[in-house]
Amino acid sequence: MGQSAPEKERLMAQQSQSNRYQSSNAEPLLEIKDLHVHYETADGAVKAVSGVNLTLYEGERVALVGESGCGKTTLALAIMRLLKPPARIVQGEIILAGRDLLKLDEEKMRLARLQDVALVTQAAMNALNPVMRIKDQIIDGLVDHGYEETKTTFRKRIHSLLEHVGLKANVARMFPHELSGGMKQRVGMATASALQP
Ligand SMILES: Nc1ncnc2c1ncn2[C@@H]1O[C@H](COP(=O)(O)OP(=O)(O)O)[C@@H](O)[C@H]1O
Ligand SMILES: [Mg+2]
Repeated sequence: MGQSAPEKERLMAQQSQSNRYQSSNAEPLLEIKDLHVHYETADGAVKAVSGVNLTLYEGERVALVGESGCGKTTLALAIMRLLKPPARIVQGEIILAGRDLLKLDEEKMRLARLQDVALVTQAAMNALNPVMRIKDQIIDGLVDHGYEETKTTFRKRIHSLLEHVGLKANVARMFPHELSGGMKQRVGMATASALQP
């Protein structure tokens, strides 16, 4: 906060050409077109994201690098459509696998989250429910997306998700307070990747 200056610094998308392996006719996986996000404050609009364009093909990774307050989190939350007032997406398109996320109704967007797009926040540890075992929190996300499986299948799936982020299977039965900060961060990654977005 505290930045009433209307013109914010532009977010720079550093895109490495070397890891671009799209074939000539491939559609981009994610395309952000001229995205503008403002925070409407009493002092006027804080232009947190001003005209971001970004194209990402399957298998590519992009790192956004910028000083604190330059709009990285705002952009990530915009892609998840998790921005809350006073934030407002003023203009632009966010096309994921051919669909403009900004045009989906709330229910379709709810399903797209985790299924197609997921966010691991810096404070992932705070997102865990303190009174639920790790496995039950991950299962919650799967059930919420219509997955009905046997306990055994869920257990196998959770073990492989945990293993994938370098955690042992016994973490599944633990509560958040039994984990270190780094382990909780890994659980956040496992949860975010549960549906292979
Ligand atoms: N709720 C808010 N109200 C007003 N301005 C905000 C709000 N949240 C963020 N901002 C402003 O938006 C800009 C971008 O913030 P943010 O996306 O959090 O940056 P970053 O993640 O790169 O540190 C900053 O100038 C910040 O002060
Ligand atoms: Mg941030």
